[in-house]
Amino acid sequence: MDQIRIRGGRPLEGSIRISGAKNAALPLMTASLLTDETLTLTNLPFLADITTLVQLLMQHGVQIGMRDSGAGHVLEMTAKEITSTTAPYDLVRKMRASILVLGPLVARCGEARVSLPGGCAIGTRPVDLHLKGLEALGAEIELANGYVHARAPKGLAGGHYVFPFVSVGATENLVMAASLAKGESTLVNAAREPEVADLAKCLVGMGAKIEGIGTDTLTIQGVPALHATEHRVVADRIETGTFAMAAAATGGELELVGAELSIIDSVAEALDKAGVEIVETENGLKVRRRNGLVGVDVMTEPYPGFPTDMQAQMMALMSIAEGASMITETIFENRFMHVPELARMGANINVHQSSAMVRGTKKLTGAPVMATDLRASVSLVIAGLAAEGETVINRVYHIDRGYERIEEKLKACGADIERVGS
Ligand code: UD1
Repeated sequence: MDQIRIRGGRPLEGSIRISGAKNAALPLMTASLLTDETLTLTNLPFLADITTLVQLLMQHGVQIGMRDSGAGHVLEMTAKEITSTTAPYDLVRKMRASILVLGPLVARCGEARVSLPGGCAIGTRPVDLHLKGLEALGAEIELANGYVHARAPKGLAGGHYVFPFVSVGATENLVMAASLAKGESTLVNAAREPEVADLAKCLVGMGAKIEGIGTDTLTIQGVPALHATEHRVVADRIETGTFAMAAAATGGELELVGAELSIIDSVAEALDKAGVEIVETENGLKVRRRNGLVGVDVMTEPYPGFPTDMQAQMMALMSIAEGASMITETIFENRFMHVPELARMGANINVHQSSAMVRGTKKLTGAPVMATDLRASVSLVIAGLAAEGETVINRVYHIDRGYERIEEKLKACGADIERVGS
């Protein structure tokens, strides 16, 4: 298994191209199931999760061509015929986002059988809202043998669904399903994440009728069929925030090419309070810390609040800030697995239920550490870049699920980082 080895203490200087967002790309790819015409996605990141979803979609009968444009990958997907409406366990278990085929399949074919994604390291993560929402659109749902079986023999019908709490994936599943349902649907308390808005814009490009994009109430007029379109995947706001924090942690200056300030508001605000400057440039954003870092409190919330996917990275940064920082996680119940690893590097962190009190130390020191999930792993990269001495991160396949060529991007900006096979 590969490891990443970092010798810390070098400020990052230079520019990094921000990739398309993984969390937008995955639902966008499943939208290809909604039409028999070709959906072309550009600015796609090339990641392990994308390959997993390519395999799943091909298994449903989608014909897929992929090429590297030099500035992101281009994916052409044509689901002329759906050859299987079953998403099997061996593919779904690799990636929870596979549940996103459920809505499109039942909407287009009147039936779908999707394996339940099962547990996940960062929490139990049930799919009950996906299922209740589909029931509101007229689907009959049955759970048996570890599979969800959804049926709508006469097609889905427009419906009204109020989410009891915000779910990104369930909103995406329902907005796709409702696009082909008969009549009008309203989704209330819908997720407002930029990736949801990106999906909705692509669906509109395919002929869907959606109002309220970017708000918490989506109104969808179902149409009988969707058609071909080309769509550019929105910039990855989590990758943007991650590299911004890496620049700040090492005391360097980075230009993040293709990054958009408007979708990282809450992160930019927290960084500003912590003493990090982010300014817009012609090509994206420039990031550097003003003087020393100071501790700030953050609480994760649905968009536009501080993203849970940035919590671990923020904790790594706060580990070397002056003063204390209270970091509260409200989205996932078990998302502090990076704490013991950061502690091995000298961070002073105390967890009490869903809050972590971080007391900044002057220096972290390199150590062998273990990646436990995607964002936790990258927090260790940030810590390693800022630490004195050598850090070796094990189980880096977690990082490869969400960060495209991370060591190459960092190396080009002066980091002493390499991937080694073990
Ligand atoms: C998406 C992102 C993930 C991010 C998360 C929250 C993708 C591929 N993944 O995940 O990176 O961390 O949003 O911003 O886009 N829940 C239920 N029942 C459901 C659905 C969700 O109880 O049916 C709970 C979850 O366990 C969690 C919370 O709701 O506690 C939010 O989850 P959700 O927004 O659905 O996350 P995902 O779409 O899985």
